Amino acid sequence: MARPRTLRRKVRRVCVLTSGGDAPGLNAVVRGLVKHGERLGLELFGSEDGFTGLVEGQLLPLSSTTVRGKLPTGGSVLGCSGRANPFAFPRPDKRGRMRTTDESATARATLANNAIDVLVVIGGDGSQAFAMAFYDTGVPVIGVPKAVDNDLAATDVTFGFDAAISTATWAIDTLHATAEAHHRVMVLEVMGRDAGFIALHAGIAGGADVVLIPEIPYDVERVAAKIRRRKARGSTLSIVVVAEGARPKGKAASKARRGRRRPGGAGLRLEAQLAPLIPEHEVRTTALGHLQRGGAPTAGDRVLGTRLGVRAAELAAKGRVGRLVALRGTSVVDVPLEDALGEGRRVDRAGELAMTARAVGIELGARAPR
Ligand code: F6P
Repeated sequence: MARPRTLRRKVRRVCVLTSGGDAPGLNAVVRGLVKHGERLGLELFGSEDGFTGLVEGQLLPLSSTTVRGKLPTGGSVLGCSGRANPFAFPRPDKRGRMRTTDESATARATLANNAIDVLVVIGGDGSQAFAMAFYDTGVPVIGVPKAVDNDLAATDVTFGFDAAISTATWAIDTLHATAEAHHRVMVLEVMGRDAGFIALHAGIAGGADVVLIPEIPYDVERVAAKIRRRKARGSTLSIVVVAEGARPKGKAASKARRGRRRPGGAGLRLEAQLAPLIPEHEVRTTALGHLQRGGAPTAGDRVLGTRLGVRAAELAAKGRVGRLVALRGTSVVDVPLEDALGEGRRVDRAGELAMTARAVGIELGARAPR
């Protein structure tokens, strides 16, 4: 079926869902969409737990009351699911083993049965790929990009990133006290998947000594040499920030033992490599994990989330579909939904951010590119 661009019929009913992992600011997006949508005369519905609501045929009516008091909260008022892939939906079989079936037709039927004119998908690259697949079959879709990792090329900044780097910076500040008291090397593992934005931003904000990111495979000898140099100059503490996707030169990124497709263990792996090279230092590792995704959105996340939600409501009311709302520079714009699917954004190893880190003495684990 042809992809719709501008709907000829008047848009009345809009369904929204929050797919993938949670991110601080999700509720600001939903609230902006619902509040402005109501003003524009739309009826709003939510699908709980990402695409699960669509697959199970249950939609939740949404109103200003549903989102009241939610602006400062983390999580999602609609619930999230990273597993609810409508094209391979997981369910336990009779023996309790998980099996997947294509439930996309059921999801489309739920939209049709509820006379939904437009579906708004708030989610990361994987979720926008589902959105695109629905759009390709004629479902009118609008996308809102989401990723605490800030690794989506379609938008300059993602909501939730600011809260994630604020939490990671708080962790660095907190670890400084113990590092100083015990003259230790403290390793902090942060999120980011295959991108080093959280690590690099928090490392700069927290005054870290070493930051290791996936885009720059590291040489552990350089990390050890940095710590020895600091000691020789009288600094007996060092803070090392390692992105979960960071990897030593020539090696793959570390994976969580269960569910080996997930990153995990980069901090402990680094500790095991580093400790024997600096035997005079104690090394301790903290993995910050999902603390970076929970908690309150910052003021910046709330404003960005609200702007994206309001823009999505405007597009929906005009019947402009197949679009992704995005921040470009300082403006909220809309771009083709396809833009959400390209290569993700990565730290430019020779770019201004990496150079800034190096300029203030942060060791990035490899020689600077010429
Ligand atoms: O992509 C967001 C992210 O938070 C990554 O940084 C992290 O690796 C992953 O999600 C964790 O996902 P889950 O909630 O499935 O553990």
